[in-house]
Amino acid sequence: MPSARPEPARTLARATTPRGDIALRCRETQGGGTAYELIVGGVFAMDTIDVSTEVELARLGLAACAQPRRVLVGGLGLGFTARAVLEDPRVADVVIAEIEPALVGWAGDGLVPTLTGVVGDPRVRLHTGDVADLLTGDETFDVILLDVDNGPSFLVHQDNSSLYADPTLARALAQLAPGGALAIWAAQPEPGLLARLAALADRLGGLEVREIARTVEREGRTLTYATYQALAAG
Ligand SMILES: C[S@@+](CC[C@H](N)C(=O)[O-])C[C@H]1O[C@@H](n2cnc3c(N)ncnc32)[C@H](O)[C@@H]1O
Repeated sequence: MPSARPEPARTLARATTPRGDIALRCRETQGGGTAYELIVGGVFAMDTIDVSTEVELARLGLAACAQPRRVLVGGLGLGFTARAVLEDPRVADVVIAEIEPALVGWAGDGLVPTLTGVVGDPRVRLHTGDVADLLTGDETFDVILLDVDNGPSFLVHQDNSSLYADPTLARALAQLAPGGALAIWAAQPEPGLLARLAALADRLGGLEVREIARTVEREGRTLTYATYQALAAG
């Protein structure tokens, strides 16, 4: 039976990085279950209370693409987006970029239950580093999924701001195979990002831009998350 006053979160693992503290915590939920929390750069990055939009980021990106064989996922987090990608049998090759070596190490040591079966999947290549290293225009992907911040207006690392600026977005779009999809997750609507993607689509041509907003109930609060997609012509 759930207790009236849930215990405070327990820290399962913690590391100090040049970008600030990273921690894996767990706590009891109001329903008596266990929720895992990830702190990155000293900022709350996510928990497992409701991961429907992390999963939807993957599903919508994959659904928009006829043959999603090669997928780039940035970053790893607690693995829900990557797991949803791996559940699609059409996917043959998944590059996951994760900037925090500590998180990759905890995953390898089996400390993160939600990452079991994700990092060890034979289709996965882990890039322990900045996803920007892979957004260089060199490699092509059918689907590029970005969930590294709480959105461009709520960064976990200030250096990530360049990811949402025109040069990086344009390079990411150039890396889409014909019929490919770029999808970016945000914890709130991001009109600036939508406008930049729409302007790039006008300039580059052959792209369709979409905003998909979702309302989620989280422990008595109503939140609106958003996913931004740019779909390349097939
Ligand atoms: C919100 S979590 C991702 C959640 C993930 N979609 C899931 O389903 O669990 C953000 C992750 O991106 C990582 N990250 C932040 N900035 C990054 C960057 N520039 N390159 C690669 N990974 C980054 C963080 O360390 C964190 O693990």
